[in-house]
Amino acid sequence: MSRALVSGFNQAPVTRSASLPVPLDPARLPRHVAVIMDGNGRWARQRNLPRVMGHRQGVEALKRTLRRCSDWGIGALTAYAFSTENWSRPGEEVSFLMTLFERVLQRELGALEQEQVRIRFLGDLEPLPTRLQELIAEATARTATNTGIHFNVCTNYGGRAELVRAARLLAQRVARGELDPDQIDETAFAAELHTAGEADPDLLIRTSGEQRISNFLLWQLAYAELHITEVLWPDFDEAALLAALLDYQGRQRRFGGVDPLG
Ligand code: FPP
Repeated sequence: MSRALVSGFNQAPVTRSASLPVPLDPARLPRHVAVIMDGNGRWARQRNLPRVMGHRQGVEALKRTLRRCSDWGIGALTAYAFSTENWSRPGEEVSFLMTLFERVLQRELGALEQEQVRIRFLGDLEPLPTRLQELIAEATARTATNTGIHFNVCTNYGGRAELVRAARLLAQRVARGELDPDQIDETAFAAELHTAGEADPDLLIRTSGEQRISNFLLWQLAYAELHITEVLWPDFDEAALLAALLDYQGRQRRFGGVDPLG
């Protein structure tokens, strides 16, 4: 986020979109972008570097993406940082990632706070190292009232686990007599997800060419437009984000209905 824009961050959308690349239509930007940041390992392998160097560069790509999304007036960015399945990676890589998350949080919290980013971590946070849990709690609390972009970091997140958890929470409310089963509708269900209160993503970007959802936001992506790019996540830059947004703006969104012009 350029300093000049930060001061007027929440007052004037015109100022915010001033830096919007010309081909983008400011009226048709996605409100919420989700990203599956894939290809860190391959990026490192192509350079004969250890896999973890790919993750380090991946953090830089995430920072770039957050800045651009914020500068261009996108309301929320949700990134898949660590899945429930990622624990099966080699122990060294898992430890590296946990330490990397701690370092990034420590290093970037001041800037996130100042730049009005509201950060939240979505997933089952209890199995994470205690120090990381403390930093997450601090970052969440210190940015909770920030009025800029919502930055959601999915950590120890799994879409199926999230759905099971929501069903269990609803069942518990029914068992306590607080809720009638007939009152369970899509709104009530969505309110028990980690993403409660956040609009569903309009656009999902997946890097490195894989054509899978990989247990990410299974409920929330119901009507998202998918953009799959061959770019490896550490190389994801402004041009790649612009390409994704232009692809999105070229889509006819019908939400199960019909094209009004066709
Ligand atoms: C997968 O690449 C990517 C990850 C496991 C994400 C790592 C997390 C970050 C870069 C961001 C962390 C950010 C914060 C804010 C704490 P891969 O290893 O699956 O790549 P490959 O498919 O090429 O092996």
